[in-house]
Amino acid sequence: MRLSFADPADRAGNVPATEAKTPEHYSTEPKALLFSHPFWAQGGLTMSHLKDQVILVTGGTSGIGQACTELFTEHGAKVIAMSIQAEQGQGLANRLQAEGRTCLFHYGDVRREEDVRAAVELALSRFGRLDAACANAGVLRTQKITQVTLEDFNLVMGVNLLGAIWVAKYAIPVMERQGKGCICFTTSVASEIGFPEHGVYCASKAGLVALMRCLVTDHSPKGVRFVAVSPGTIDTPMLASSCEGWDKPKEELYADVARKIPVRRLGQPMDVARVIGFLLSDEAGYVNGSVVYVEGGTLALPPW
Ligand SMILES: NC(=O)c1ccc[n+]([C@@H]2O[C@H](COP(=O)([O-])OP(=O)(O)OC[C@H]3O[C@@H](n4cnc5c(N)ncnc54)[C@H](O)[C@@H]3O)[C@@H](O)[C@H]2O)c1
Repeated sequence: MRLSFADPADRAGNVPATEAKTPEHYSTEPKALLFSHPFWAQGGLTMSHLKDQVILVTGGTSGIGQACTELFTEHGAKVIAMSIQAEQGQGLANRLQAEGRTCLFHYGDVRREEDVRAAVELALSRFGRLDAACANAGVLRTQKITQVTLEDFNLVMGVNLLGAIWVAKYAIPVMERQGKGCICFTTSVASEIGFPEHGVYCASKAGLVALMRCLVTDHSPKGVRFVAVSPGTIDTPMLASSCEGWDKPKEELYADVARKIPVRRLGQPMDVARVIGFLLSDEAGYVNGSVVYVEGGTLALPPW
């Protein structure tokens, strides 16, 4: 990923190794180094509100979405993880079910209205309700706008924005009938930063924020809340694939980026999942139409 910030100083950042996309990568255990505060020592957030909640997670089989699936099911939620990763998705669902958790994998393309409708119908037919939806599936393609093709545009807008619109279209009526529900969109700091060669991606993520605010006006009076998380640089397969074609190995690129982030590390998928888990709770019941940043202070950096 090409960041436009100048390195504020040549301070040597202690950058942790960022490998191993194993189940441990999505561990829900707070890391001792990061969570040494007494709050975490006492167990941190319990997330007990997630028990028996029925939650649809698009893109729920990789990266941030997988961390949501892992965290929510660990705390007793019934998760429908939707994506186009057939093998990975079924493998994830099988593993979680073998651990006694409730997770269904739904193969589907969020660009296809009927696939998203089927995911919501699956929640209703299997569990009788839908308490929350995370419109999280996303793709990243980079190019100068002078090179963009309709195919690039349709892919990025189709997955990142249209996919979220289909989730809202089918989840909202269910939630309004229930009198309660929450939809969380995964936007990005790219909605607020002019990343080089990210024009369509940035527009898709800004579009999600505009969409969310309109949904608040139309549907919150009937009990549905809408929130967005805005991740910074998170160590996921999407980030790894954005390193292809550079003249440095991924590890060096990650270390370069980490040195520029105020907390001196990349985010982990579980950093984002924990925030989403909280936003879905009644404790966050007065948070509506808000963008919550999970970016280690990236947006606080001065522009030089
Ligand atoms: N990784 C980051 O640094 C970062 C930063 C800001 C925002 N985000 C956003 O977070 C979200 C998750 O990204 P990630 O980094 O975990 O990426 P990822 O590539 O690990 O996961 C993306 C998920 O979306 C799914 N997906 C892609 N196209 C799909 C389609 N057509 N239909 C259904 N599912 C589809 C994939 O199968 C995968 O499960 C995305 O919306 C991304 O834009 C990521």
